[in-house]
Amino acid sequence: MRIINESLCDSNISVIIGKDALAELEELKDKKVALFYSQKIDPSKVKSHLKNFIEVPIIDGEEAKDIHYALKLAKILFENGFDRGDYVIALGGGTVTDVVGFVASIYMRGINLINIPTTLLGMVDASIGGKTGVNFENVKNVLGTFYQPSMIISDLLFLDTLPFEEIKKGLAEVIKYGLVLDKELYDFLAMNKEKIFSKDEEALEEIIYKSTLDKLSVVKADERETKGIRIVLNFGHTIGHAIEAGSNFSVPHGYAISVGMVCEAKMAEEVGYAEEGVVEDVTWILSQYELPLTVDALNAKIDLEKAMSAITKDKKVRGGIVMMPFPTRIGDWKKVDVPIETLKGFAEQCLR
Ligand SMILES: NC(=O)c1ccc[n+]([C@@H]2O[C@H](COP(=O)([O-])OP(=O)(O)OC[C@H]3O[C@@H](n4cnc5c(N)ncnc54)[C@H](O)[C@@H]3O)[C@@H](O)[C@H]2O)c1
Repeated sequence: MRIINESLCDSNISVIIGKDALAELEELKDKKVALFYSQKIDPSKVKSHLKNFIEVPIIDGEEAKDIHYALKLAKILFENGFDRGDYVIALGGGTVTDVVGFVASIYMRGINLINIPTTLLGMVDASIGGKTGVNFENVKNVLGTFYQPSMIISDLLFLDTLPFEEIKKGLAEVIKYGLVLDKELYDFLAMNKEKIFSKDEEALEEIIYKSTLDKLSVVKADERETKGIRIVLNFGHTIGHAIEAGSNFSVPHGYAISVGMVCEAKMAEEVGYAEEGVVEDVTWILSQYELPLTVDALNAKIDLEKAMSAITKDKKVRGGIVMMPFPTRIGDWKKVDVPIETLKGFAEQCLR
C-alpha cells in the first residue's frame, strides 16, 4: 500500500493506494457520512467501515453530470441535516467524483469530501486535482469549481470488475504522464504491458502511484490553472476534445486523446520543439497498449466543422492564441503559444 500526504494551498490531502486501502476509512467511524455511490458498484466493503451514514445510490455516466441532478443530491444532504463538519463520500468513476465533488463544494460553501474512484481513469486523473464539474446546455464541464477532497482512496479491489476497455481508457492518461512528465513511468509502461493488461496488483499500484504523484506535483505548482503549468495535463486534449466534439461524443475520451497525443506530437515535431524520435516513441507506446493512433482507427464519423468549432471555443484560447504543451523529449515538455489558425491547419490535416 502507498500513502501520499500533500498540502495544497489551504488543504491537506491524503492519497491511499493499494489493496485494502479502504481500511483507512476507519477514521470516519465517529463521523456522519453521506455515501453517494454509483448504482453499478457494490458499496458493501465501504459501508463495513462506516457507522453513522446514509447511503445514496446514484446514476453514473455523463447523464449524472447534470446541474439538475447535482441539485437533487444537494437536497438529500439538506433534508438529512448535514452540516460542514460532516462528510460526503463519492464512490464511482470520474463522472461520480465530478458531480458529487461539485455538490460537496457548493453545499454550505464546502463539506468534507472523500473520493473513492472505481475506474482506472478516476484513480489516475479525475479524482485528483480538485476540479469538479457538471455539463450544461450540452457543453461538458462548463459549470464547475476547484475543490480538494481531504482523502482519495484508490483501492485496487474495484479494478477487478472493471472491463478491459475501461482499463485502456485510463491507460491513455497514464501514458500521457509518462510522455510529458515522467520518463521513469514511460520506461515502466514500456516493460510491463503484460502485467498491466493482466491486472497484476503490483504493476497497477505502481502506475497509479506514479500518475498520482505526477498529477499532484503539477496541481501543487498551479492549483487554479493560472500559471501556465497545469496546461501540461492537456497534452493530447486540445485535438482530443475536437475529436470528441466532432463525433458528437461517441468517441470515448481516452481514445480521442490517444489520437490527439499523436497529432500534437507530430505538430511539436514539425514546428521544431520535439526532438527527433518523439513521434515514434509516442506512437509505439500507444500501440503497445492497443490504443488508436489515427482517426480511421476510431471507426467514427468526425464532423470537421464541429471539431474545428470546438477548437475555436476551447477554454484555453486567448486573443487568437492557444497555449499548448508540446513534448520535447520523453518525460519533458514546453509551453508554446500557437496561433489558433496554425492549430486548426494541423488539426484538419490530422482529422481528415
Ligand atoms: N475532474 C477532473 O479533473 C477530471 C479529469 C479527467 C476526467 N474527468 C471526468 O471523468 C469522467 C470520465 O470518468 P470515467 O472514465 O471513470 O467514467 P464513468 O464514471 O462513466 O465510468 C466508466 C464506466 O465504468 C463503469 N464502472 C465504474 N467503476 C466500475 C467498476 N469498478 N467495475 C465495473 N464498472 C465500473 C461505470 O458504470 C461506467 O459505465 C468524464 O466525465 C470526465 O469529464 C474529470
